[in-house]
Amino acid sequence: MLTQDDMKRKAAWTALDYIPRHTIVGVGTGSTVNHFIDALASIKEDIEGAVSSSEQSTERLKALGIPVLDLNSIDSFAVYVDGADEINPDRHMIKGGGAALTREKIVAAVAETFICIVDESKEVPVLGHFPLPVEVIPMASSYVARELNKIGGRAVLRQGVVTDNGNQILDVHDLEIQHPIQLEAQINNIVGVVTNGIFAARAADIVLVGSQQGTKVYK
Ligand code: A5P
Repeated sequence: MLTQDDMKRKAAWTALDYIPRHTIVGVGTGSTVNHFIDALASIKEDIEGAVSSSEQSTERLKALGIPVLDLNSIDSFAVYVDGADEINPDRHMIKGGGAALTREKIVAAVAETFICIVDESKEVPVLGHFPLPVEVIPMASSYVARELNKIGGRAVLRQGVVTDNGNQILDVHDLEIQHPIQLEAQINNIVGVVTNGIFAARAADIVLVGSQQGTKVYK
C-alpha cells in the first residue's frame, strides 16, 4: 500500500521522462514539486537551469546546485512542472494551497507545455471542494471578500500568511465550479485581486497521476 507521499514521488519522478535535455525547466511549488526538484538534481548536468515560482522552490533548487534563472531574461522555455490542489477531467486545476499561485501562473504562462504532477487524491469531477485561494492587495481584502461572497462563496482570510509578493490570501469555501474558465476571468475582474487559483484559461497539457497502480498519464 503506497502512502500519499509515495504517490506524489512516483508522479514527480515520472516527469523526468518529459524534460528535454539542454533546456530551461519551469519549477512550481509544493510537496509534490519538492520530489520533482530532487529528481531534477539527478540530471542537473544536462539542463541549463530552472525558472522558479517561489522563494521556497528557489531555496531548494539552489541547495541542490541547480542554477535559478530570471524569467525576464528568457523569451520562452519548453516545460513547466507543478502540482495542484484539485484537477478535473478537462485538466483545469485549483492551485495556491501553498500561496504561490501568482508566480506559478506567470511561469506557466511563459512555458510551452504545462505538466501537472499529482497523487490520485487530487482528481475530482468538479472543482471547488478545496477552498479557492485568491491573492489580494492587503488594503482590498475586505472589499474583495464581500464581492466573492456575492458570487456564492465564503471567503476567509488566511491568517499569518504573506505571499512572496507581499499580499494576502483569501480562501473561498463552498464554491461548486461548474464553469472554471468563466469564473477565473470573473474573479480576476474584481478590483484588488492579483490572481485567483483557478488555472483553466491555461490548463495542464499533460497530467501525471501517482496512484496505487503506478503513474497514470493523461494528455
Ligand atoms: C502552491 O501554491 C500550490 O499551487 C501547489 O502546487 C499545490 O498546493 C499542490 O501542493 P502539494 O504538492 O504540496 O500537494
